[in-house]
Amino acid sequence: MKILLVAGARPNFVKIASVIDALHVRNRSTNSPIDYLFVHTGQHYDEQMSQTFFTELSLPQPSVSLEVGSSSHARQTAEIMNRFEPVVLRERPDVVLVVGDVNSTFACALVASKVTYPQATQTSRRTRPLLAHVEAGLRSFDRSMPEEINRILTDALSDFLFTTEESAGENLLREGIPREKIYFVGNTMVDTLLKHRDKAQESTILSQLGLKENQESECRDYAVMTLHRPCNVDNPDTFRGILEALSTIAKKIPILFPVHPRTMNRIKAFCFESYFHSVTRNSGICCLDPLGYLDFLWLMSHAKLILTDSGGIQEETTVLGIPCVTLRDNTERPVTITHGTNVLAGTRKEDIIHHAFSQLSQPVKPRKPPLWDGHAGKRIIEILA
Ligand code: UD1
Repeated sequence: MKILLVAGARPNFVKIASVIDALHVRNRSTNSPIDYLFVHTGQHYDEQMSQTFFTELSLPQPSVSLEVGSSSHARQTAEIMNRFEPVVLRERPDVVLVVGDVNSTFACALVASKVTYPQATQTSRRTRPLLAHVEAGLRSFDRSMPEEINRILTDALSDFLFTTEESAGENLLREGIPREKIYFVGNTMVDTLLKHRDKAQESTILSQLGLKENQESECRDYAVMTLHRPCNVDNPDTFRGILEALSTIAKKIPILFPVHPRTMNRIKAFCFESYFHSVTRNSGICCLDPLGYLDFLWLMSHAKLILTDSGGIQEETTVLGIPCVTLRDNTERPVTITHGTNVLAGTRKEDIIHHAFSQLSQPVKPRKPPLWDGHAGKRIIEILA
């Protein structure tokens, strides 16, 4: 059996790491190993958005790099498909496995489900690969999000739908996906977090940022902010409102803000640079370059509050038990609200401030969501095998 694993953007690397680990563990203990090939589409390509994650998560270097880079949605998706199809035809995998909801996920899913192998070989009569989707079934019910489109389309094409929470299975059944294709396995992003929690202790990020004098001393209070969704950073008025909310919150607790490249591009495009720098300089907001996995995990673990519009961070704060305020009107991950520390604040300045202050004074107590136990990758590989 041969699996072709696909990853392309920062959160994909975190999700696929545990699947690759599980493959290695299985292959060491069996005499019928699963052959795999790892394809990096190159959707994310900056050192801090890509290579750092390979190093820190001990990911094997990709067997194939498609190097597509950034572009409009249509061009990026088309370019990934164009470069991925010959790889599938050449390698003839039995399974193509995609993770998450980014453009790379959908582009490769579409190729895998339409490709036809020229003729059966002695070892395989398969005419196309089966498609497996890790993190299937999540729905924000907001089709203005590019990720929602990628999720719906990838799920419609998939043969194996691996879900992270019970709501995802319900969404898929409602969309008419046959029950026998759906497997509730848990969360591979959580697998990776649990595995790297101890290693993150070696991070020196807290002292580098002056949050801690030395290893033994107490850590200062701080909050962490991440922001990159088009609905928050592509509209100058919304973006400005969020910054105003941040500057109010930062008077109470300093905010560390690793700035995503997309957000930095928007700041430049809106000629917001001097406004942005004066807001951040005059309130307690400290802007940083994007951080590596271990530094960010360590920073999150000690924060009093996280403000974010990321999907994965809502899940990670649930596991870490750190209060999370999500700057969106919806979440495709409702278990982070029912079981976790997450609250939805929307994007209005007053609402963000209200939720941040209330999370600081009365943090929510989390419960562990079902199957978020560090073994999702293993379950996926057992099912595929
Ligand atoms: C993508 C995903 C989003 C995910 C996010 C995580 C889609 C539709 N969106 O959004 O779901 O939460 O990744 O980070 O797939 N850029 C760089 N260097 C890089 C990568 C991007 O400078 O290494 C800049 C480019 O100018 C690019 C912009 O960031 O145009 C956006 O990158 P892109 O991959 O298109 O989407 P993200 O906003 O990163």
